[in-house]
Amino acid sequence: MSRILTLALSKGRILDETLPLLKKANIQLNEDPQSSRKLIFETNVSHIRVIILRATDVPTFVAHGGADFGVVGKDILMEQGAQNVYELLDLKIACCRLMVAGLVNEQLPLNRRLRIATKYVNITQSYYAQQGQQVDIIKLYGAMELAPHVGLADRIVDVVDTGNTLTANGLQPLEFIMSISARLIVNKAAFKVHHTQLKPIIDDLAAAL
Ligand code: ATP
Ligand code: PRP
Repeated sequence: MSRILTLALSKGRILDETLPLLKKANIQLNEDPQSSRKLIFETNVSHIRVIILRATDVPTFVAHGGADFGVVGKDILMEQGAQNVYELLDLKIACCRLMVAGLVNEQLPLNRRLRIATKYVNITQSYYAQQGQQVDIIKLYGAMELAPHVGLADRIVDVVDTGNTLTANGLQPLEFIMSISARLIVNKAAFKVHHTQLKPIIDDLAAAL
């Protein structure tokens, strides 16, 4: 069965770093997504189109068949779980580390559990459970670095690349949780039903790495 395949990407570094890979695999968007408000783009390959989502929505679209395949950070996959999708390729882009960080001059509380601010609640929960440490987790959606300064949390769990954001905010990395990179995920049913169409695209992307 032949049909238009939908690839889900997110604006920002995933899009910036995936476009050159797609180009190497001879797939090019017909319009520049960086300078357009459009969310759906045709490509030079008539049976491939690209949709642009929030990074955290990519697994949802792919899992429910709203997109056949997509590119998403391993942090998001780990946090949300990856039901209904195959993780086929480590694209080795958008590389960073998930770390625990704290104030450079931190003073930890002695009479209560540590408070950890993060958008990665599930990963943080299992990390501390593995350490055998009970902590209170505070869910934030951004600007985690502020939390220790205003007494909202003792430490944060966030992604770190250069470390510049931590340094600029008086924080330092303390514990390494895991290495992160972007992955190519594919809807399980689409992988079966549209295998003949998907396989060469996946092979070309693998070769482009
Ligand atoms: P949104 O802005 O939609 O909430 P987001 O902030 O997670 O999503 P990006 O900042 O573009 O979106 O990050 C996309 C992915 O890139 C992350 O899930 C992570 O895997 C990786 N990433 C995040 N920050 C960095 C960084 N500083 N360096 C390298 N990779 C990063
Ligand atoms: C991410 C992350 C950190 C920063 C780390 O933010 O949330 O703040 O990168 O990178 P660094 O170690 O190289 O400084 P991003 O740049 O994606 O902005 P965001 O907070 O809007 O997602």
